[in-house]
Amino acid sequence: MKIGIFDSGIGGLTVLHEAMRTLGSEDYIYYADTDHVPYGTKSKEEIIAYVDQAVQFLISKGVKAIVIACNTATSAAIDYLRSKYALPILGMEPAVKPAVQQCKGKRVMVIATPVTVREEKLHNLIRQVDDEHRVDLLALPGLVTFAESDGFDAPEVEEYLRKEFTPYRLEDYSALILGCTHFNYFKNTYRKIFPECVAFIDGSIGTVKHLKNILSEQGLLESNSGSVEYYMSGRPVRDEKLLKRFEKLHERLEQMLKY
Ligand code: DGL
Repeated sequence: MKIGIFDSGIGGLTVLHEAMRTLGSEDYIYYADTDHVPYGTKSKEEIIAYVDQAVQFLISKGVKAIVIACNTATSAAIDYLRSKYALPILGMEPAVKPAVQQCKGKRVMVIATPVTVREEKLHNLIRQVDDEHRVDLLALPGLVTFAESDGFDAPEVEEYLRKEFTPYRLEDYSALILGCTHFNYFKNTYRKIFPECVAFIDGSIGTVKHLKNILSEQGLLESNSGSVEYYMSGRPVRDEKLLKRFEKLHERLEQMLKY
């Protein structure tokens, strides 16, 4: 049986990429809801309806577990999905707790989509772990647009980020938490902007560890061929050009591992 990995677009490939490194003999279906990306500026109700459709599709393909590899969809829809479906459904949450515990008096910045920044889920998490009010939240919806158009290294990305970070003293920070899976593609640019000692924390490794534990506990780990099928809003991706694009995105993610 396959593992379903879902995102509004190409962001969740970061989780698929990590899963293929850690759980290389599992088979995967990657579902990008490209008809409806971006999610980060939509209403909670719209997001729930879109994610539910994708989850139903993945279930109809017989997946054994689903990873919602999208912080936005997790914050809007995970409770709904878990109450509706019995199979394991994992979500993604910005890794605020470890960052706050390790920040040693410095600040932590969480960057995410407007929905994630607005939703109660993140505020509840911060309330639980951030007694000293060291966490700042910043919505960067522009990065999703750059990512979806493969504009990772466009000069506008650096301009946009420098402008958005202007109100903050970046030397006060110990960690930048990438609270949106699309944001992993830009680590080279954050490196140019943030002081060397600032760590970039992305949730893919933790999410895949969690996936491995859940599959192991439920006796669902398998030794298959490590295949991946891609779908865009329910349509199978067979076009060579599109498959090549996914391959290129994996190459970029491999490069981003060094930052
Ligand atoms: N990749 C998504 C996330 O992790 C959201 C991107 C979007 O559709 O706005 O939050």
